[in-house]
Amino acid sequence: MNKTLAIIKPDGVANGLIGEIIKRIEQEGLKIIGMRMTQLDRRQAEGFYYVHRSRPFFHSLIEYMTSGPVVLMVLKGPNAIDRWRTLMGATDPRKADPGTIRAEMGLNIERNVVHGSDSGDSAMYEINYFFKGSDLVE
Ligand code: PPS
Repeated sequence: MNKTLAIIKPDGVANGLIGEIIKRIEQEGLKIIGMRMTQLDRRQAEGFYYVHRSRPFFHSLIEYMTSGPVVLMVLKGPNAIDRWRTLMGATDPRKADPGTIRAEMGLNIERNVVHGSDSGDSAMYEINYFFKGSDLVE
C-alpha cells in the first residue's frame, strides 16, 4: 500500500496550521492525490473510529472530532504510511520526537493535530471511507 489517509483535526484547522502541515507533507515528497475540507457528523466519526468504540476515550474523541472542520487528504508515495506517521510523531505529543508535527503543535493526546492510517488495511478502509476512486488524482 503506497497510500495513506491524513486528517488535519479540528485543533489543527482552528489554530491555522493547515498551510504548515501541507508544507511538511510536500517537502517530504509525498503527493496529495485527494483533499477535502468538511465537518464530520457524529455518524461519520463513530464509523471512522469504530475499532475504538469500547475505549474509555471514545465519547470524548467523537465530541472532539465533530467539534469543527477537518481537512481530509490522501497521500501517495513509497512507504506513505510510515513516512506520514514519522512526520506526525507519537500519538501523545509529550512522547513525540522533537521536530514532529505533534511534538511542535499538539496540545494533548486527544488534541494532537493530525491523524494517519496505521497499516495497509486501515489505510484502504479509511481512504474508501471518505473518498471515491474518482475523487483521487493519480
Ligand atoms: S491504539 O491503542 O494504538 O489503538 O490507540 P492510539 O493509536 O494511541 O489512539 C487511537 C486514537 O484515539 C485517540 N486517543 C485519545 N483520544 C482522547 N483521549 C485519549 N485518552 C486518547 N488516547 C488516544 C488518539 O488521538 C488516536 O486518534 P487518531 O485519530 O487515530 O490519531
